[in-house]
Amino acid sequence: MAKVLITGISGQDGAFLARGLLEKGHEVYGAMRRGSTSKTGRLNELGIRDKINYCTLEVTEFANVQNVLNEIRPDQIYNLAAQSFVADSFQFPHYTSDVNYMGVLNILEAMRILKLDTKLYQASTSEMYGDVLEKPQTEKTPFNPLSPYAVSKLGAHSLVVNYRQAYDMFATSGILFNHESELRGLEFVTRKITSWLAEIKLQGKDALPLGNLSSVRDWGYAPEYTDMMIKMLEHDKPDDFVISTNTEYTVRDFLFMAAQEVGFDLHSEGEGLEEKCFDRKTGKLIAYVDPRYFRASDVVYLRGDNTKAQEMLGWKPEILAPEIARRMAIYDLKKAALNTPGL
Ligand code: NAP
Ligand code: GDD
Repeated sequence: MAKVLITGISGQDGAFLARGLLEKGHEVYGAMRRGSTSKTGRLNELGIRDKINYCTLEVTEFANVQNVLNEIRPDQIYNLAAQSFVADSFQFPHYTSDVNYMGVLNILEAMRILKLDTKLYQASTSEMYGDVLEKPQTEKTPFNPLSPYAVSKLGAHSLVVNYRQAYDMFATSGILFNHESELRGLEFVTRKITSWLAEIKLQGKDALPLGNLSSVRDWGYAPEYTDMMIKMLEHDKPDDFVISTNTEYTVRDFLFMAAQEVGFDLHSEGEGLEEKCFDRKTGKLIAYVDPRYFRASDVVYLRGDNTKAQEMLGWKPEILAPEIARRMAIYDLKKAALNTPGL
């Protein structure tokens, strides 16, 4: 049994990871920053809220990070804390960098100064590939970031490589492609789609505004990805691993798949800014392009080659985008029927 600290435990991945670690018999410490409302909704949803030892952590405060690490002295740290919404990083580039880059530096420095023999997992991201220089992307594909979020994560990724080399730390980065679930934040496109469609269907909400419908993503299922985080730290040496499904779907594909589950049969009319999606049966407008959701620069194609993880970690993704859309739509239909706000 290991003593494990998860930063960002209140987020989507934090909740699934905590459940996976508890199932393996580990002692889980969950680090949260203070807030004025409860942040244990996802942990409650998974039935594990009372099985975690909580501590307060603000990753941008070095002294706080050092104190928490010194107090817990964990065998493993999963650093999931981040300002994780790419669109917001254009509005808050300094803040995004403080959390996503300085936060990681704080953890690495605290580990070094305290001489902790701790394994670190860093949440790196496919967003670092940006304007992709190769298709599909592997661990060797050069990075070419397109957002303050991606730049901050690339800086953190480089720090992890450097601390691994310089101080022989067990510091691993998972380059995870987009992963979604019923517990995904409502602002990310998949959950925005499923929650909104369910509310159109059951609560008469107005049509759904979206940005770039042609953007391509390699979407996987979050609980499978957090299981791979555990495998990465169980591996005998630290490394970088791409975790992806090696499939590709557009935002439009995801919208149409989710709509089908909700009971809409969509077709598109118009192109670019004029594109509108109607339900064939009723002729009702369901979704439309709204330029407010375009980004200053957008990553428009991601597809990950997961060969290394398959060969070295035994990775085999089971749940792909059509099934993810189905599960998320079913979950959000239930929420809308009960009129309970999403997590
Ligand atoms: P998420 O749902 O947005 O969760 C982010 C977590 O970070 C939340 O618990 C949040 O706490 C915490 N946090 C934010 N700022 C903090 C701060 N200053 N100090 C301490 N904690 C802070 O994100 P996720 O989808 O679970 O993703 C987990 C990690 O994987 C993130 O680092 C993300 O960038 C990375 N990632 C995600 C994906 C994906 O597709 N999901 C893919 C690649 C990489 P609050 O509840 O207080 O906001
Ligand atoms: N959020 C959002 N809202 N995105 C939209 C919308 C919309 O209304 N319309 C189109 N999109 C497009 C975005 O422009 C982007 O190309 C794509 O849908 C996916 O957007 P998000 O779901 O917000 O995810 P992301 O790819 O930007 O970032 C997520 O995945 C990264 C891994 O590649 C986040 O989880 C990041 O934290 C993660 O690192």
